[in-house]
Amino acid sequence: MNCDFRIGVRIALVAVSLGVAHAASAAPPTFTEEQATSGKGAYEANCLRCHGTTLDNGQFAMPLKGETFITRWGGRNAGDFISQVAGTMPPGLVGSVDRDTIVKIVAYILQSNGVRAGETALPSDADKLASITLPNSAADATLQPSRTMVTWPEEMRPEIPALLKNLRPVTDEMLRAPSDDDWLSWRRTYDSHGFSPLKQINAHNVRKLSLVWSWSMAPGTVESTPLIHDGVMYVQSGNDVIQALDAATGDLLWSYTRNAGAADLRLGKVRAKRNMAIYGTTIFAATSDAHMLAINATSGLLLWDQQIADSQQGWNLTSGPLVARGKVIQGVAGRSREHGGGGMIVALDSRSGKELWRFNTVAMPGEPGGETWNDLPPERRSGGSVWTAGSYDPALNLVFFGTGNDYDIMPVQHKATPGSNIDLLYTDTTLALNPDTGKLLWYFQHMPNDLLDLDWAFERTVLDLNGRKLVMTGGKLAIFDAVDAASGKFAFSHEFGLQNIVQAVDPITGAKKLNPEMFPEDGRERVMCPSSYGARNWMASSYDAARKILYVPLEHTCALQQGLPSIFAPVIPSKNSDGKYGDLSAMDVQTGKILWRERVRHAQSSGVLATAGGVLFNTDVDRWLRANDSLTGAELWKVRLSDAANAFVITYAVKGKQYVAIAAGGPKVIMGTFAQLTPEVRLPAASVPVMSVFALTN
Ligand code: HEC
Repeated sequence: MNCDFRIGVRIALVAVSLGVAHAASAAPPTFTEEQATSGKGAYEANCLRCHGTTLDNGQFAMPLKGETFITRWGGRNAGDFISQVAGTMPPGLVGSVDRDTIVKIVAYILQSNGVRAGETALPSDADKLASITLPNSAADATLQPSRTMVTWPEEMRPEIPALLKNLRPVTDEMLRAPSDDDWLSWRRTYDSHGFSPLKQINAHNVRKLSLVWSWSMAPGTVESTPLIHDGVMYVQSGNDVIQALDAATGDLLWSYTRNAGAADLRLGKVRAKRNMAIYGTTIFAATSDAHMLAINATSGLLLWDQQIADSQQGWNLTSGPLVARGKVIQGVAGRSREHGGGGMIVALDSRSGKELWRFNTVAMPGEPGGETWNDLPPERRSGGSVWTAGSYDPALNLVFFGTGNDYDIMPVQHKATPGSNIDLLYTDTTLALNPDTGKLLWYFQHMPNDLLDLDWAFERTVLDLNGRKLVMTGGKLAIFDAVDAASGKFAFSHEFGLQNIVQAVDPITGAKKLNPEMFPEDGRERVMCPSSYGARNWMASSYDAARKILYVPLEHTCALQQGLPSIFAPVIPSKNSDGKYGDLSAMDVQTGKILWRERVRHAQSSGVLATAGGVLFNTDVDRWLRANDSLTGAELWKVRLSDAANAFVITYAVKGKQYVAIAAGGPKVIMGTFAQLTPEVRLPAASVPVMSVFALTN
């Protein structure tokens, strides 16, 4: 949205409240039939491919007709509308349609919204257009003369454009060592520590946190992590409305809308994306229809739009992009077991959107690893979904991505022929790829032949331990494997003791010995821990490199299984459950010792954030945002949010003031599981996601 327009709105409000005289009512303005007819032709030539044949059925852009349009533009000034179109449309080809033609297209848009043609033509002169108001409702579709406005004194205009004008391009150097104030990638730094060096908010003063601003995001599932750069916050909601806000005040700076309409929302085509990326002055955002968008960070205009996978065929994006050395690298979740087709990792050129390489996470016949699928044909191989963004080590020039399990376990339970292999590469694996070429340098499979949906698909933490660089990750079992970052060689495995599936881990190879009781042939009932929801899930951990402590949001649940697992197996409490399902735990990664456990009744619902101020921010399904003491785990402060949060809490600073932000609300994935265990939790029925931002008050 262009900023001048915002100012226009303010002027209008002030003018009304000051009781400024209105222009004398002359004959209402109109456009001519001829303009509209000619505009229709120009629309078809320049706009139809995105906005659709009927102005409201475009696949790539928002409706220019009907309720959405009237809500957005009704009562606003025709001059601003035409400036907006002329200044932003068609994306990438601004200026290719001359102003007179745009005026005619606007006449056609107005006619399509029910405004009748008349005697006088719609002018193209800016001053004259400024005196025309667009219709306020579909029922009364007429143009009206605008009110006369007072001039808004220059010095009273908001400073918003300056914030965007002064935005520094994000360099490779900044991504490697971000300013303490910024949050530039999913887990803040390339090594995915999810840790902030800020300490203005600390264990002593955290009780004084209070809300400084909040913002209702567009409807849809939200698991997003805001990006922060130079005082600007970028947010994405499930239906791919991407917005820039003043991170200190919550003022909207611009808004980009991709057309995922109400029908898409109902059809569940709208997917949460966990993060966006920033590089140069471009925001990269994955969409619900599996495209990657590049949006100008200062103007909100689309720079390019590249399809990554065919969402109609079942591929989808839930993670967001990682930018390394100018490549935008995105993980793709695989198709369902009925269709086959595994996950992917795709790299695009950040300038052009051109695809540079693609790595398939499910090995096909004839490829390396292709022999690990029990001789199944390609269409029977699925899974290996990439659910979260990767990590990057600039010194090794390697990106690390994780994958989930196989989706079609029936044909891989037993070896088809003696000697055949059923490891299922590259499911449940850490992949180390060269970001320039997509070449696989090494891999470590955490769980070969995973029949239990154990998903080793979450964040990869890169850490230095005793002079050795490691990549550490934990799947749903909350067993954390660490492997050498340069070679993939197994280093160690630590666990949180919430599972009964793995009985032992080989200290040399990392191979896991599984409990045979968990695979009964006779359909006997047994209690499997954790439930398929996991002792942990995508709610990311946070790592304090100075103290070598990993903080993990955990859940205590089991499932009553008959035969092989089904996600529908009833979730039950563990045998000696105390009714507390949520757990925030701290582990010394050098020794594997659990330093403390903070047990709560309600399941953890977001990633945890540790800060140098000694505070751990975390949330639960009962709508609490909490701050705990990172030394002891004790709760220091909490606040009730508008809804349960399923997103990632971040912290940042603007002009020396530290803020904490989290998006809560929207339909939530994890609630189904816990609704049965903690039935007292009552959440809002119709939920709009809300971004809430907190800071210290004096
Ligand atoms: C390549 C695709 C594409 C083409 C071609 C295109 N648009 Fe758009 N248009 C978009 C997208 C995407 C948006 C949403 C941008 C945003 O929300 O900031 C948009 C937004 C708009 C809006 C703002 C709607 C609102 O409610 O805010 C108008 C008006 C508009 N376009 C008119 C046009 C006209 C007129 C043309 C032809 C001259 C055109 N567009 C050509 C993609 C396109």
